[in-house]
Amino acid sequence: MSKYNVLLIGGGGREHAIAWKLSQSEKIGDLYCAPGNTGTSGLGKNVFLDTNNFDEVVDFVKMQKVELVVIGPEAPLVNGISDYLNERNIPVFGPGKVASMLEGSKEFAKDFMVKYDIPTADYAVFDAQDFDDALKFVQLKENYPIVLKADGLAAGKGVFICETEAEVENRLNYIKNSSSLSKAASRLVIEEFMEGEEASVFVISDGHTSHILHHAQDHKRVGDGDTGLNTGGMGAYSPAPILTDEMLERVQNEIIQPTITGMQLEESAYSGILYVGLMITSDGPKVVEYNCRFGDPECQVILPSLENDLLDLMLSTTQQRLDEKTVQIDQKYRCCVVIASGGYPEEYEKGKVITGIDDIDDEALIFHAGTSIQNGQLVSDGGRVLNVVGTGDSLKEAINHTYQNVKKINFEGSFYRNDIGHKGLKRISK
Ligand code: AMP
Ligand code: GLY
Repeated sequence: MSKYNVLLIGGGGREHAIAWKLSQSEKIGDLYCAPGNTGTSGLGKNVFLDTNNFDEVVDFVKMQKVELVVIGPEAPLVNGISDYLNERNIPVFGPGKVASMLEGSKEFAKDFMVKYDIPTADYAVFDAQDFDDALKFVQLKENYPIVLKADGLAAGKGVFICETEAEVENRLNYIKNSSSLSKAASRLVIEEFMEGEEASVFVISDGHTSHILHHAQDHKRVGDGDTGLNTGGMGAYSPAPILTDEMLERVQNEIIQPTITGMQLEESAYSGILYVGLMITSDGPKVVEYNCRFGDPECQVILPSLENDLLDLMLSTTQQRLDEKTVQIDQKYRCCVVIASGGYPEEYEKGKVITGIDDIDDEALIFHAGTSIQNGQLVSDGGRVLNVVGTGDSLKEAINHTYQNVKKINFEGSFYRNDIGHKGLKRISK
């Protein structure tokens, strides 16, 4: 059997999970991770590459005879790394620059959804400097909350849910004057607030054929009961009970199929992972956002459920042979809890010695996010530090299994949410 050398770009918990799954493939040759993390170092070789310098990536690929490049995070995709490598006959798993605009520009995504009749919140777009126009538009609105969104990538920090007109004005001022948001917010989307429950569906597409891989629910807020600041994600569980077979069929027909067909019609066929963030409203499923990659930490609960060989699926995607494949998911529930550094998502300290990681049981999984080795000891080295993934035949079992193991791990100032998966439990008991 041919073996394939793979370069995986990224270094978070998501990429540890991808590397873990790829390393189980019968087809894997050498696995390189750029930059990778402590977790991936045990599965492949971590390498330092400037992934903004595409030529450096091309040189590495040629030197190490890499046959597939897998892109974890959104930024290189939105910057066009896939097109650059594809034009040089290097197979890449991840969408091209225009297709990645489904995540890279909210205005692009909203206009696309309207054009192809894909359900989403009503919206209007403004130039960030046209403060008065935006304010006038809001003054005509009677229904609050109102959602303000920076058009571009803002690492989860570009969305504001405003309860009053005064708050809209404050936020508009903040966006206009914020140096960190200035690039992302040169255009602004103002949209209707959708009432409902969120869930995320992960689709693999080769541009023509698409399959649902699985679905999950993320927990974006830092505190229990969905309180406090937004984060990259404090935990996830899968499957999402709100996505019944009936609801998934609607999502497939009303959202996924028109998205894949729409991108074909736009001559930017979508190849890679499409993450569809949904609000399940009383009117049915609506799109909150698209992302052009796996979610983090959703990936950490999805990939352990996948029975297929991930490398085989990725190669089938780049070779446009996904029609030959079916996706197999096991019947288990999974829960992922993120252990974070005290202070996250604001300022936090690093370098705290982590204990207990060797005590977790054999069935639980640990994916590293922000850790490093200092003087032979595992220490914290980021905001989100470790992901603990537990499993079970029911959601309750999966949650219990996860927290039994989370409790064994400690470092100074560490914290985690205590209620990951509880929303799902409530739904199941209804
Ligand atoms: P986004 O980056 O667009 O996914 O937004 C971040 C989070 O804000 C989402 O996961 C939702 O919780 C919330 N959100 C965004 N847009 C809306 C909306 N139109 N209605 C309700 N909640 C929203
Ligand atoms: N967990 C949310 C994201 O990856 O965008």
